[in-house]
Amino acid sequence: MNITLRVWRQKGKDDEGRMVSYQVEDVSQDMSFLEMLDVLNEKLTVAGEDPIAFDHDCREGICGACGVVINGIAHGPEVTTTCQLHMRSFKDGDTIDVEPWRAKAFPVIKDLVVDRGSLDRIIQAGGYISAPTGTAPDAHAVPVPKTDADRAFDAATCIGCGACVAACPNASGMLFTAAKVTHLGMLPQGQPERAARVVKMVNQHDEEDFGGCTNIGECAAVCPKGIPLDTISQLNKDLLGSLASGKM
Ligand code: SF4
Ligand code: FES
Repeated sequence: MNITLRVWRQKGKDDEGRMVSYQVEDVSQDMSFLEMLDVLNEKLTVAGEDPIAFDHDCREGICGACGVVINGIAHGPEVTTTCQLHMRSFKDGDTIDVEPWRAKAFPVIKDLVVDRGSLDRIIQAGGYISAPTGTAPDAHAVPVPKTDADRAFDAATCIGCGACVAACPNASGMLFTAAKVTHLGMLPQGQPERAARVVKMVNQHDEEDFGGCTNIGECAAVCPKGIPLDTISQLNKDLLGSLASGKM
């Protein structure tokens, strides 16, 4: 396939930034989106031009580093991570727009790379337990009902990619925060800090300039890990309970 890429280029956080067009030829349908960017970057480097900066690590849909907005959709046309998106999702002659996550809480560092440290600071505010872990306990030493274990596990699959923020018209980080609150709040080990955790994490979320949640649902629609919207209901329930009980 031959495609036209229109890529957001921005030298640094104070640069205005602009879309720049590139022709990419002989693109295999089996390439991942990031491999296609690698090929373009090789050509730019050989030509003495600045390669396009983009974030990535595992390239297996695990680390959450690789998100970009493709044709206006966080992670592109498939519900997956950008590293797991393949060029077979596009066709010969396509023009593809590639932009960084757009949110006040995710300042652009360079080109497609944004600073997602705001998500780390939400975790630091309360996404932990104080129970001593010690060595691996015997299985079933702490019984957890299957439905709770499944829900905790599903919430724990959040990889912190930030697509939910990029997709939200309010740039809210509430689906991410709700996934973390739900993951720990469903397990016995997460109970001692449960009331304080939700208040601390929501306060940090608001301090980081994320927007408020108005239940639009764009976040869940693009989430590559299928974090459900009702985790936000659970967060709200925990938050109200915590504020009402004064146990913060
Ligand atoms: S909730 Fe989904 S979209 Fe948001 S950070 Fe977690 S994995 Fe990414
Ligand atoms: S590079 Fe790790 S999830 Fe994409």
